[in-house]
Amino acid sequence: MASDLNHNQYRVIAIDGPAASGKSSVSQMLSEYLGFLHVNSGVMYRALAWSVLRAGIHANDDCAVVEHLRAIDLCCGISDNKATLTVGGVDPGGELKSSEVNSVVSAVSRVAEVRDVLVAKQREYLNVADIVMEGRDIGSVVFPETPYKFYIDASIEVRAKRRMKEGIVDDLAQRDAVDSSRETSPMVVADDAAVIDTSEMTLDEVLAEIIDRLRVSGLDALE
Ligand code: CDP
Ligand code: CDP
Repeated sequence: MASDLNHNQYRVIAIDGPAASGKSSVSQMLSEYLGFLHVNSGVMYRALAWSVLRAGIHANDDCAVVEHLRAIDLCCGISDNKATLTVGGVDPGGELKSSEVNSVVSAVSRVAEVRDVLVAKQREYLNVADIVMEGRDIGSVVFPETPYKFYIDASIEVRAKRRMKEGIVDDLAQRDAVDSSRETSPMVVADDAAVIDTSEMTLDEVLAEIIDRLRVSGLDALE
């Protein structure tokens, strides 16, 4: 289902950026501030990676990955104003952040057919709510029409430190490399996105900067 913001009453704020740039934290804070729904598109790719691992499928076997996605019931919804996700009725929860999932998620995300299916699910959210959606291609591919786009970044050293502090094994450089170089919807800075380098910023400072820019852009939720 293609999005057409001109005919849509709902608004979307796109927050893209590499791993551990602070997307989830800032998107959560911003969505609470605005009363918008927070949607993390990354969990959809992670859920597929998690399911592929459980099925014993090799993450680089594109055909098997696509076949698996077609066979499972990856269900994205909303409950109590929160985005929800289940696979075959099961909520994978914290397992989506495991080092095993981190190590294969970029491989399954490379596949064009995978992206078609998951992007369609992402777009459906805008039919029912104002959203803050985070990911890699939200401003460039999923909702290119939105005037509210941010690309938040930080140096690889700072991002690696942030992830290490969380106690999670995650080869950020490897994920960045695959995510940026894939053929379909690579991670890019959308032409009209505001870029914020958060290396030296606290989460509160990043949030304040985004709100300031949204106000300048005329987001009516801030009037
Ligand atoms: O939170 P973090 O940045 O570490 O990862 P994430 O946003 O949960 O995304 C996990 C992986 O999913 C990324 O490394 C990408 O391979 C993929 N992804 C994507 O390709 N496109 C998106 N819109 C979101 C995530
Ligand atoms: O979603 P993404 O992987 O981009 O990042 P995150 O999960 O929101 O942030 C990764 C870690 O860095 C979290 O523990 C945040 O609290 C921390 N962080 C920070 O200390 N300062 C920032 N400006 C951004 C994130």
